[in-house]
Amino acid sequence: MPIDNSNMLKVIEDFPHQCNTALGLAKGMTVSGKINNIVVAGMGGSAVGGDLLRLYLSNLKIPVTTIRDYILPNFVNENTLVFAVSYSGNTEETIAAYEDALRKKAKIIAVTSGGLLREKASKVIKIPSGLQPRAALGYLFFPVLGVLVNSGITKENTSEITEMLDILSQKEDFKQFGEKLAKKIGQKTPLIYASEQFGAVAYRWKTQFNENSKVAAFSHVFSEMNHNEIVGYQSMNRDKFIAILIRDNADNERIKKRMDITKEIISQKVDVEEIYTKGTYLLSRLFSGIYYADYASYYLALHNKIDPTPVHVIENLKKRLIQ
Ligand code: F6R
Repeated sequence: MPIDNSNMLKVIEDFPHQCNTALGLAKGMTVSGKINNIVVAGMGGSAVGGDLLRLYLSNLKIPVTTIRDYILPNFVNENTLVFAVSYSGNTEETIAAYEDALRKKAKIIAVTSGGLLREKASKVIKIPSGLQPRAALGYLFFPVLGVLVNSGITKENTSEITEMLDILSQKEDFKQFGEKLAKKIGQKTPLIYASEQFGAVAYRWKTQFNENSKVAAFSHVFSEMNHNEIVGYQSMNRDKFIAILIRDNADNERIKKRMDITKEIISQKVDVEEIYTKGTYLLSRLFSGIYYADYASYYLALHNKIDPTPVHVIENLKKRLIQ
């Protein structure tokens, strides 16, 4: 019996191609008028694009916030650009946030493959259907970025995109790394860390382990973990946990030093694996950091004889909520 019944491997391998296609999906979609802030409203796999956008555009003078809730903050008004992002278009929190954005008179663009959100919204970027939301990150991130480029809020940097696509296309590296790491993880619970700047990457690792591999996983950031979580290692052991440090060559020098010292300290209790992001541009470093997790979580699912694609518990819970 094959375990990967829906061929998640192919979806992961096609990710660079997905990103390339996604780059064209915002064609002609713009917003005008004054924009003081940008909000991405979404849940789970559909919210990750917002987290990445916030990191990617951290140099922008306009703040970018991801909201995973029914209600948007009170700073949202007619000068806010809200992206309501739901792959299925039927996630109740995102629909409620969309309606709240309407009440608050924000400029709204929906990004969805269909569902209720597509019916309700007047400005929609329709993305291809048929994937698990978490496997559609390219479709969920690049159209949003595309709107910001089309509207003159940020500039497109083709060298960045070329480098990213080139790096992600060297899939053997990611694949081999993922297979090796999955073996090392085995039955242990992964604890994933990155700098605050790459916190969303560490969080994506956690959620990919949760949803693809169906295991518990946790993430935290440096240097905050040095002020609390590190103490918990005192009672941990090598059979139960494994720490994964996501490192970036551009991490702040003090963060690098903290990671080195932390590694020394926690290695006395658990095995520690380190992963370096690839590339010179931030876009490549963010997406390569994430792409490792796609493969590692995929191979951990196979290792545990679990089909990586379905997430029945999420779907059943959503069904119970509408009964
Ligand atoms: C499933 C997944 C979930 C969903 C979440 C919200 O693959 O990633 O985290 O993304 O339940 O659903 P959508 O994305 O359809 O709004």
